[in-house]
Amino acid sequence: RRVLFRSAFAQNKPVDEQGHLWWQHAVFYELYPRSFADSNNDGIGDLNGITSKLDYLKQLGIDAIWITPCFPSPQIDFGYDVSDYLNIDPMYGTLQDFDTLVQEAKKHGIRIVLDFVVNHTSDQHKWFLDSRSSKTSAHRDWYIWRNGKGPGQPPNNWQSIFGTPAWKYDPATEQYYYHYFYPEQPDLNWRNPQVQEAMFDVTRFWYKRGVAGLRLDAVDSLYEDPDLTDNPLGAGTDKFGRPNRIEKFNRNLPEVHTALQDLRKIADQYDAVLIGETWTPDVEALKKYYGKHSNELQLPMDLMFTTLKLSAPVYRQHIAALDAAGGWPTYVITNHDIVRSYSRYADGLHDEQIAKVLAGLYLTLRGTPIMYYGEEIGMQNNDPKGKEDVRDPIGILGWPLEKGRDGERTPMQWSSGANAGFTTGTPWLPVPDSAKTYNVETESKDANSILSFYMQVLRLRKEEPALREGSYIALNESDANVLSYLRQYRDDSVLVVLNLSAEKQQVSFDLTHQGFAAPKTKTLLESAAAAVDAAAVTVTLDPYGVFIAKVTK
Ligand code: NOJ
Ligand code: CA
Repeated sequence: RRVLFRSAFAQNKPVDEQGHLWWQHAVFYELYPRSFADSNNDGIGDLNGITSKLDYLKQLGIDAIWITPCFPSPQIDFGYDVSDYLNIDPMYGTLQDFDTLVQEAKKHGIRIVLDFVVNHTSDQHKWFLDSRSSKTSAHRDWYIWRNGKGPGQPPNNWQSIFGTPAWKYDPATEQYYYHYFYPEQPDLNWRNPQVQEAMFDVTRFWYKRGVAGLRLDAVDSLYEDPDLTDNPLGAGTDKFGRPNRIEKFNRNLPEVHTALQDLRKIADQYDAVLIGETWTPDVEALKKYYGKHSNELQLPMDLMFTTLKLSAPVYRQHIAALDAAGGWPTYVITNHDIVRSYSRYADGLHDEQIAKVLAGLYLTLRGTPIMYYGEEIGMQNNDPKGKEDVRDPIGILGWPLEKGRDGERTPMQWSSGANAGFTTGTPWLPVPDSAKTYNVETESKDANSILSFYMQVLRLRKEEPALREGSYIALNESDANVLSYLRQYRDDSVLVVLNLSAEKQQVSFDLTHQGFAAPKTKTLLESAAAAVDAAAVTVTLDPYGVFIAKVTK
């Protein structure tokens, strides 16, 4: 058994009799390298900083980390504008530091996943510099250049989701180039086979360096209608005050799936996992990203999960739909583009308990969870106080309706000391006062902290086969306040009971249909909850209480 496990680190071998692969058992942790740990005290986190925190991540119960882009970049979009895919930005370290990180992580049983910005490069990438230099340059057709409709008129009505038109006029060659994000992020022309090959080579480069997978950025915007048909107008206005457009002709084109299949073929040669930034309106749309023959993304993120309101019926319905969709679910509750989950769900009265109930929920579902750094200590959004403090360009353009994403990207809070122990320099984003309470050092010493709760749930996931392998069986489906389910694998059953309301609740379970005529429960984890009667399986829960128990005959 041990041997199987060890060899599975390098190879795409099942880690259990179910045929599950390593990424189905792993807990992933997204970290923003600028903000995780600063080893040289220049105020910006770096790779050696990450390496220095591997013990912490191991103890927490993490199996893989996804590092948001750490490649050379002018940092207009803080790394999502890559100017060289095959190197490390000096502010983060060197390729050698990266190799050290991979090796040290491996010793900790932690895999490294990188962020692959597939849709666009930086306008400072050598491909784009050549592309813009003349209409006949070797890389001209690597990007999307078109004539305007007339003087001062872009080729069509497409808009960048970052608040500007999607076309930028370049006087050097008197044409416009297309950018779905910032103007400094020109879209690659994925219809050009040379672009595809170059990008495929990038993935090979990193796989060969020991990377266990890639998180694919902005996959749905890879292709555009070649006829540049205008998008239809939608209702209302967006957060930049522009009339809404329905992105019919520049998003989610069917060709996206061909590209994903090609990327997957290469990933499979290196036993790598592909995680997708898959924003979808519904589960049906998300399902497509697995591929008709499970030949696209192994882990398309369920980002709809981040938009749900804290309500038992809402979660119950969504989880059931995703669980039945046929793929392996990938749950996230927040990331570097979304207001932190703590701030989104806090009610001012039960904030910490709400943070715990969310962990109790998504870390016990069937599927792979991807955590976001700091979530485990209850980090809160620290939004800029005024427009002059904003670093993220969309916040500058959209202030005050759109504050940008700085608030969810602040330095990791390691201690109650200066700058939360992140740096002795000046941190690139300010640390909030709440860091005095919510930090790793303080919470490690407190058995009731959010951090301790996360560690317990993550430990349970490792210890209880039902939590990793088990089917998801919804219980008490008409309960408006308490979300309950059984995870069942062979003889092993774990009951999860989550009070998603601000009131005290008492619930009882009849588990006859699940094979338990006279069940016995053994509590695995209680937080603001307690078993009243183990035989009748009755539980009382304080607001947002969590109760997890093993059920036996
Ligand atoms: C999605 C990333 O998560 C976001 O941070 C970035 O700004 C855009 N893609 C553009 O790369
Ligand atoms: Ca640094």
